[in-house]
Amino acid sequence: MAPRKLKEGVFSVGAIDWDRRLFDSLIPLPLGTSYNAYLIQGENRTALLDTVEPALIKDLFANLDELGVKKIDYVVSHHAEQDHSGSIPAVLERFPGARVVTNQKCADLLASHLRVPAAACDIIADGAVLDLGGKSLQFTFAPWVHWPETMFSFAREDKILFTCDFFGSHFATGTLYADDEHHVYLSAKRYYAEIMMPFRGKYPAYLQKVEAMAPEIIAPSHGPIYRRPQFILDAYKDWTSDKVKNEALVAYVSMHGSTKLMVDRLVDRLVAHGVNVKQFDLATIDIGELAMALVDAATLVLATPTVLNGPHPAAVYAAYLAGVIKPKLRHAVLIGSQAWGGKTVDTLKGLLAGLKLEMFDPLMTRGLPTAGDLAAVDKLAETIQARHAALA
Ligand code: FEO
Repeated sequence: MAPRKLKEGVFSVGAIDWDRRLFDSLIPLPLGTSYNAYLIQGENRTALLDTVEPALIKDLFANLDELGVKKIDYVVSHHAEQDHSGSIPAVLERFPGARVVTNQKCADLLASHLRVPAAACDIIADGAVLDLGGKSLQFTFAPWVHWPETMFSFAREDKILFTCDFFGSHFATGTLYADDEHHVYLSAKRYYAEIMMPFRGKYPAYLQKVEAMAPEIIAPSHGPIYRRPQFILDAYKDWTSDKVKNEALVAYVSMHGSTKLMVDRLVDRLVAHGVNVKQFDLATIDIGELAMALVDAATLVLATPTVLNGPHPAAVYAAYLAGVIKPKLRHAVLIGSQAWGGKTVDTLKGLLAGLKLEMFDPLMTRGLPTAGDLAAVDKLAETIQARHAALA
């Protein structure tokens, strides 16, 4: 993708990864992604803000060539992860005088992960300003907007805030700006759920800092750029708030149909009671969809048959994922089936224990659910509805 101008002397020079379908061997990318890098040309100095995934370095270099860039003075590294900093060694080789401008933690990670020598780095403090001549960058440390070393930089004269992973979306598009807010919202929410949600508690303070800067543009390092920053700020305020919605996430896997009968009955009753249900078959799900649904849900229903002596592995994965991405769930219940016994409930409870949820009594059938089992499911639906009503 050719370089694109944001403002006079400010260009998007990164790469679009249209075909990538898995990130970190973990996260599905149904819409691909991008690795946004930015070039800022001051009167005296030129800065490159982040680089790209090494596999696409040719795209970054082609953009710099197209702009006629012969010298880079600074490579600002907001985050040491390889999708943004992995090409720093190649950039330093091509532009030998360039200095890597970053914080100490990031320099340490660049050294251990990418063998960027400490001698190539200029260490900046929180709040420091880098003068480019007529343009300047001010740095704000923002640990855990993905890793502990992450930071933002603010182009003060142009009022552009560069946030790296924060506010990003895995969304490959030839459109520079996030003007199609409906589609960008969904990609940004998925990204938040998968990458950012574990550190949710830190973000209200960061959002206040961002609003105080009053950026005209927020330029993340994945996905489109926001020229209406309030759109993504409002979305993050909602996602990071402590408020849950009247939603039950029903994640199930069924082998011979017994667990599915329980799920069908519960979903029917929940809907009848006015609870918004998001139902997913864990055998076929895109795990990002599950993560997205966990952003808002008040209750998790995890349904599984018993395999050998414990839960189906798909249910284990879902419980583990919920445990590590730390959603703001309030309640959970385990339902399912077993033939003769097992430790299904104990195993899943253990995986969810860190979330400190109210766990409703589990409902496990022996084979096909009986009329008594289904009556218990009806009761469970009433309990969930009552809890949700109390949250309103
Ligand atoms: Fe886009 Fe945490 O790297």
